Amino acid sequence: MKALEGVRKTWRTAATLVSLAFSAAPGRAVVAIVTELLGAILTLVASYQIQNVVQAAATGDRAHALRAGLTLAFTGGLGGLSYLAYAQALPRLIEAITVHLDGELVRLTARIPTLEYADRPVHADKIQLIRSQSQMLAGGLQAVMLNVRMLVTLGGAFVILIGIDPWLALLPIFAIPRALAGQRARRLQVRAQEATAEPMRLRGHIFNHATSPVAGKELRIFGLGAELAKRYRDISATTRHLNVRANWGGAIWSSLGDMAFTLGCVAAVAWLVFRAAQGAVNPGGVVLAATLTTGLIIQMTFALQFAQYFQAIMTTVERYEWLVDFSNTAAQAVTGEAAAPTILRRGLKVEGVCFTYLDRDKPVLTDVSLELPAGRVIALVGENGSGKSTLVKLLCGFYPPSAGRILADDTDLADIQPAAWRERISGAFQDFTNFEVAMHESVGLGDLPRLGDRDRVTAALGRAGAADLATLGEHGLEVMLGKKWGGVDLSGGQWQKLALGRALMREQPLLVVFDEPAAALDASAEHDLFERFAAEARSGQSGGRATLLISHRFSTVRMADAIAVLDAGRIAEFGSHEALMRAGGKYAELFEIQASAYR
Ligand SMILES: Nc1ncnc2c1ncn2[C@@H]1O[C@H](COP(=O)(O)OP(=O)(O)O)[C@@H](O)[C@H]1O
Ligand SMILES: [Mg+2]
Repeated sequence: MKALEGVRKTWRTAATLVSLAFSAAPGRAVVAIVTELLGAILTLVASYQIQNVVQAAATGDRAHALRAGLTLAFTGGLGGLSYLAYAQALPRLIEAITVHLDGELVRLTARIPTLEYADRPVHADKIQLIRSQSQMLAGGLQAVMLNVRMLVTLGGAFVILIGIDPWLALLPIFAIPRALAGQRARRLQVRAQEATAEPMRLRGHIFNHATSPVAGKELRIFGLGAELAKRYRDISATTRHLNVRANWGGAIWSSLGDMAFTLGCVAAVAWLVFRAAQGAVNPGGVVLAATLTTGLIIQMTFALQFAQYFQAIMTTVERYEWLVDFSNTAAQAVTGEAAAPTILRRGLKVEGVCFTYLDRDKPVLTDVSLELPAGRVIALVGENGSGKSTLVKLLCGFYPPSAGRILADDTDLADIQPAAWRERISGAFQDFTNFEVAMHESVGLGDLPRLGDRDRVTAALGRAGAADLATLGEHGLEVMLGKKWGGVDLSGGQWQKLALGRALMREQPLLVVFDEPAAALDASAEHDLFERFAAEARSGQSGGRATLLISHRFSTVRMADAIAVLDAGRIAEFGSHEALMRAGGKYAELFEIQASAYR
């Protein structure tokens, strides 16, 4: 049963690899497969000719010798040509598969409408693994073809051998200990791989820490360099030990198997020599059989190595198939088909929303109800971890609420197509991205259809309080960002202003979220910025837009139309700054603490 499952898995893997090759570059795939098979057949034909050559030489028949020699030369030449075509097609095929695969990985991950996969370490790990092994997947087709070639030559050689002497049909019996020993060796290898996977990952993690520029300051201050190097070496010692043991074990088993098979081959040749002495087999047949059996020994060794390689590919292919499935399921799970409203008349309404992350058992949000009226600015405050960013993620549709619902006017967010909703929101976040492209693009990406519109970028940068960035270098907005690309590097605050500019690119968003987007700016700069945003949000032209603002600075928060205080996932207080101050609750207390610090 288990063996059958193995065969089925092997077939599936091979089919996936072949279909990947055909989607990536059908022409090159055909050339590679045809030339590979042709090569296998020609090898067989050529070795079969050896019999004729020897026979002709033994009998002294010139015409026969000439014919056999010419056929041998012809098959050899054709074989050489087909190999040439193969060698030309293969690297380009592998390149095409790599490009195709990378594209598929981007497509498959990007179309997952929610963030869940990125938040689950298991999934993120798997996707990372597929990415790092895409080269291996690309080379997988080569392994499949080599296996096919091996099967063809092995099968062909076997048929020829039986033709020479039927007793040679017993030869595969000697291959059985060989295969068993090979399996044993492979199992040792797999076990070592599994045992070292975790330490290897940790080792990689340590290496990244030790060499990342971000960690550089702390590494130096706390003198962690030597400690990290020591841990790296310790882990390497353990993994090396495990690998060496597995390699030795594998080598011993493999050579035992080899010996059994070689013995069988020697016995076969001895038997043929004996039969030739009896006159039952001709000398040509003996030479042919000797050549083929020697070839078999070499082929079997290759076959074993490829089986090991294939095993590794199979795991990667399985992961890839998992991603395809996961992505399909995630894309199908989204049922919303409605369009987003053109304009918000009343606003967004969060109704009794609860939320628990998949890998947590405690809810992060409990029975949250909140209105975000159109044309108003609502601020959200609360301690770290109180669930503010989680609420933002739900509003953006990255996760569905575990209970309750979010309405855009009268339409449930769950009924709106995720892509349609995303097109109508905008936002700047604490964990923003540094897009290292030309500066105008880094901002312009906030409204893809209008990428390249310098005027809009200039305006957005101005509104984000970053007009000065446009005159940073002589190239203005064209300046390339990022040292890696020979561009300029920006400070944390400057990057943040670009992210803010990006959030201001879309002309008619229904929802704008600012989730601590200005933490790297000083308090007065943040205050000025949000004063402007608030004025924009309330002005007639953006009447159809709800704005949510999260900040730890009460000087900023107080200008919101209403403030919600989130405490351990529940709305504890709600009202205007004045009302909350009068109420003398948590908000008033926190405000006083911060205000007194500034006095
Ligand atoms: N992707 C996630 N998976 C699991 N738990 C998370 C995830 N993101 C945040 N949390 C947890 O949810 C709680 C609320 O986090 P968050 O909404 O980011 O708080 P805030 O923005 O108010 O600081 C925290 O306990 C945090 O650890
Ligand atoms: Mg947060």
